[in-house]
Amino acid sequence: MNNIPRHVAIVMDGNGRWAQKRGLSRSAGHRAGVETIRNVLKTCKKLGIEVLTLFAFSTENWKRPKSEVDGLMALLVEYLKKETKELNESNVRLKIIGDISKLPMHIQQEIHNSTQLTKDNDGIVLNLAINYGGRAEILRAVKKIANDVCLGKISQQQINEELFSKYLYTHDLPDPDLIIRPSGEYRISNFLLYQMAYSELWFSKIMWPDFSSRVLLRAIKDYQKRDRRFGAV
Ligand code: FPP
Repeated sequence: MNNIPRHVAIVMDGNGRWAQKRGLSRSAGHRAGVETIRNVLKTCKKLGIEVLTLFAFSTENWKRPKSEVDGLMALLVEYLKKETKELNESNVRLKIIGDISKLPMHIQQEIHNSTQLTKDNDGIVLNLAINYGGRAEILRAVKKIANDVCLGKISQQQINEELFSKYLYTHDLPDPDLIIRPSGEYRISNFLLYQMAYSELWFSKIMWPDFSSRVLLRAIKDYQKRDRRFGAV
């Protein structure tokens, strides 16, 4: 318990293949994936992890069939409607990273309600990446910085890594210590590109709906064996 990662970030991958193998629809796989979120969040809370970031919808996921995109959006709304009260009662702060202005208005409203209600909680941050892409996030920061330079709010000389981080969606969070990707894919897929400079990576063949607290504990035990040198010797 004395070397718990502060921030764990997960690419929730494998829902579709999990469902296919069982003769179910892809949406049923995503629904099963939401159950995993509940279990993993509970375990993270118990361990005292400060931030759990989950990749729920990428800027590239719009390329999926409309029925699947609509299904994912409906699941998100259902989750927020059902769980916000409990999240709030257990002191969870819900945060969203990504461009939610591209989501239907009623979903933006639901997100706003949930994040507003939980904004002062000081327990674990449940950080959902929705319509998120690492490159888009970096470009957004560059544009904001350029704008602030033009307005004279900051000077070009002031631009350094620390300042840059302040322009990212994650300005109020520590960088991820551990990034987990299940489902046997060994890619980062545009997730937290700037923030992951020194993250430890952990991969597993398990599909997200089968990802249990036991698997999370295995990942954390492996993480605890890593020698993080941050470029030093
Ligand atoms: C990747 O699996 C998963 C996603 C693109 C969506 C993940 C979203 C959820 C689990 C639910 C979102 C809702 C909430 C409440 C945050 P895949 O479909 O790419 O799986 P495959 O690679 O096996 O096809």
